[in-house]
Amino acid sequence: MATPITPDLLTSGQPCQQNVNPKGLVTSGPGPEMANLQRGFDFYSWLTFIAMNSPADGKVIGQGPRPGGDARTKWEDLQNYRPLADVMLGDGSKPVWGKRDVPDECKPMDGPGKIIFRLGEEAFNQPFKTGPLIDQDGNYALFDILMNKPMFDYIVDNGLYSKQGQEAFGTTVEFPIGNSPGPDKPGHMGAIMLKVSYRILDPIKSATLLSKFHTSDALIYFPGGKATKVGPACVEKKLGLVGFHVGHKTDRAPQWVWTSFEHVSNAPDTDDVASGNLLPRYNFFSATCKTNCPARNDTPPQPWDPDLTLKFEGDYRSQVVREKMIPGFVQREVTDLNKPFRGLLKGTVWENYMLLATQWPSAHDSKTDPLGAPAPTYLANTTLETYSQGKVPLASSSCMACHGNATTQHVPATASDFTFILEKAQKAH
Ligand code: HEC
Repeated sequence: MATPITPDLLTSGQPCQQNVNPKGLVTSGPGPEMANLQRGFDFYSWLTFIAMNSPADGKVIGQGPRPGGDARTKWEDLQNYRPLADVMLGDGSKPVWGKRDVPDECKPMDGPGKIIFRLGEEAFNQPFKTGPLIDQDGNYALFDILMNKPMFDYIVDNGLYSKQGQEAFGTTVEFPIGNSPGPDKPGHMGAIMLKVSYRILDPIKSATLLSKFHTSDALIYFPGGKATKVGPACVEKKLGLVGFHVGHKTDRAPQWVWTSFEHVSNAPDTDDVASGNLLPRYNFFSATCKTNCPARNDTPPQPWDPDLTLKFEGDYRSQVVREKMIPGFVQREVTDLNKPFRGLLKGTVWENYMLLATQWPSAHDSKTDPLGAPAPTYLANTTLETYSQGKVPLASSSCMACHGNATTQHVPATASDFTFILEKAQKAH
């Protein structure tokens, strides 16, 4: 809990689980025990972020060859993580680890390190089709989902990659749990899933602006048919990372640990707006718009149907504000922790990201609450749950409460262990 935040943390590796304690740095104020536990989870989240975003080639984070020390990250390396489109295949067949599926239309543009991005509806529309997010250049924000090998293996070993496989699966879905090494057991990673958000950086040429983002060269595939108006077609875009969700199932957190980071210049929070403490430029908010501005956190007008330019039709730009959702003591603790970690990453693209908070089960073995009493109650990322920020129960954003409703495609539906990934499986031919 009182671990000093020093450069050796940049190479300490990815935690197999959280290690938390109610006693620690926070000794006064309301609820110091909760605040210390929260700090343990948030510390775990920062170590996770650093490890996952370290260069795929094993170098230290921030020492990559691109501007701002950027590099292709561990989670973009197909040896470590697979995008959902490589797991839930269109024909419901068994996926093979390590096999990169490049659509024919993308092949002429393909090259080392490029990511393949399949534009299903979830790639531009937020959960439950609540709407797309439009950046200040008028581009659609894009969303992608990935998983690690323990999660992939569980899906493959249990035949959960097709509708028929899920129908045949007779027991409860239980993804593997991560644990630290102990005297009588080795450590291993649990199931990890990611959801990331990007803004399109083309045709931005400013090196200063580019060096503020982790970037990826993406081949964006429009499948056509039902999924997109145009296609099949493929376009190349430079993407900048703006949001980063991690779910990790761990020992003492069978409801998973929910980590959320975002880019520091996505949007101001409600206090910044009230006090006029605004940056000159945000990814998803205009500080200069005075008249005729879109309503705050409002969904763009229909149709939501990107063409190959990925520009939103008309001049609508999202006007996003970060709602204050987490309790003051958590906010203070996270702000305190972000400072030294961002300090460690100074001069690199990674200093431009902040932890929002970690949501964790405060009573993981509760007999009455299957969600295990999520703490904090609400958590949202301004780029990933833009339209469900707020404290109104049900309509509001709780990672665990919303993911707790996810099911398999078994009839009748069974719980899918907090992931929507299984809903994406297709019928095997
Ligand atoms: C209102 C419901 C809702 C809330 C709140 C929510 N999510 Fe999700 N999340 C979804 C849906 C639905 C998907 C699947 C993608 C899609 O279909 O758009 C998803 C996908 C994900 C994925 C990829 C794996 C999967 O299950 O598909 C991760 C990781 C994730 N969310 C993390 C989080 C975190 C962290 C939070 C809290 C900060 C959160 N989510 C809040 C609905 C929600």
